Amino acid sequence: MMRTICVQSFSQWRKEARELLSTGVPPHAVQWSEALQSDDLFGAVEQPRLAYGAPDATTTAPENTRETARMPREMLRMLETAACFRSPDRYAFLYKIVWRWQLGQKDVLSPADEDGARLNAMVKTIRREQHKMHAYLRFRERPAAAGAPQFVAWFEPEHDVLPQVAEHFSRRMGHTTWMIGTPQATMLWDGSRVVAGPPVMQGPEDIADTGEAMWLTYYRSTFNPARLNVSVMQGHIASRYWKNMPEGALVPAMIAEAAAGAQRDGQTKTVGARNGVTIPISADDAQPKREQPSTLDQCRRCDLWRNATQAVPGVGPAAARIMLVGEQPGDQEDLAGTPFIGPAGQVLDDAFAQSGLARESIYLTNAVKHFKWEPRGKRRLHKTPAQMEVTACSYWLEEELASVQPDVIVALGGTALKAILGNPKATLGDRIGVPFQHEGRWIVVVYHPSYILRVPDAEAKAKAMAVLIEGLKFAQNLST
Ligand code: URA
Repeated sequence: MMRTICVQSFSQWRKEARELLSTGVPPHAVQWSEALQSDDLFGAVEQPRLAYGAPDATTTAPENTRETARMPREMLRMLETAACFRSPDRYAFLYKIVWRWQLGQKDVLSPADEDGARLNAMVKTIRREQHKMHAYLRFRERPAAAGAPQFVAWFEPEHDVLPQVAEHFSRRMGHTTWMIGTPQATMLWDGSRVVAGPPVMQGPEDIADTGEAMWLTYYRSTFNPARLNVSVMQGHIASRYWKNMPEGALVPAMIAEAAAGAQRDGQTKTVGARNGVTIPISADDAQPKREQPSTLDQCRRCDLWRNATQAVPGVGPAAARIMLVGEQPGDQEDLAGTPFIGPAGQVLDDAFAQSGLARESIYLTNAVKHFKWEPRGKRRLHKTPAQMEVTACSYWLEEELASVQPDVIVALGGTALKAILGNPKATLGDRIGVPFQHEGRWIVVVYHPSYILRVPDAEAKAKAMAVLIEGLKFAQNLST
């Protein structure tokens, strides 16, 4: 007998699936349908989550049931992420996955399996969509009004990622109140919790925006026609994002102005006015070693590029399970364009050797991609990046995370930890050496190799090194 099950959320699907599995109902005997999101669904103002794919207590707090106990957390996370993928058969497909998995076909999670390949592709798409929404959503300030959110944004996500994105912004925007409108739903942050509701806006024009003029002025003033590369700019940010970004309306005119000569004038005026900084290496050595200049090479999100030889991108396998995040490139890394090749890299190599991890299997990167330094005689001495530089560079770290999607991130020291958590106040404290979960990944915090190099006391040095080695072993065990 065919059963029809109507679901509204991942947690409801999970409950239903658990019951079906326990009574041995195969996928072909179930028809899954999705409830339309009606006003009723959101009627309760207190409703803390959206109706679709939202992370909630039932997915994060393991229940005492047979299936939950047996299903690995990582699998649950994949299913929950894939449930955000808009597709009419998403719940039927997820049920097929868990059905095959409980039959013992563990390959169903592998990209080598046909269903596993689809599942992994869905997860990847969702992570990218979340990243795009983090990067391209623009909050606009509204006139102060009692009870109204201070900031409002409009976005048209291609998948149901709004709840996760709202959580992301709730962590980053402190006690300011905001609202994100989409065609499907609305999320409101009242300063202490996220509240979901039905769509209340038709588009960006519904935002009464007093802050807009300021933002457009800012954008115009940071736009450098001398550096305009239309295809890179338009290729990097698809038109579907531009159209909802306030600065998007300025772009066509600025491109036209650049083509009409502002590009050359801008070059002479702005670049010519900058004081040159002498870097004591030959011009040849100062060239990026990579074939093609990447967008990172052109990054001007903060001022560090001015005194650095080049941006140093992460290196490692595109699908590495472990990502190791340092602070910023050092002197040698700055010259070579590769992370961790100087003295700190040697300590790391030693730790790799002692932990049994192969450097080549790991994605190595830094929280900040340009070398920050101050002159000391003929030497360039490392200078800790300021929080605004870490925040500016978090764009690139998020890009790397969205693309590599590691299971485990190893944070080397405090700057890396702050960048990974998006929390400038984060400290190593008692997090050192104690793995914890953040945004669906394991985080392992260890001492930075440069700190290990600097510790004068031999015993303390050995202890810090032991933490690093242990941390790498943890990372290996926690990765799939
Ligand atoms: N220190 C870091 O944090 N990263 C490097 O790449 C080199 C030294």
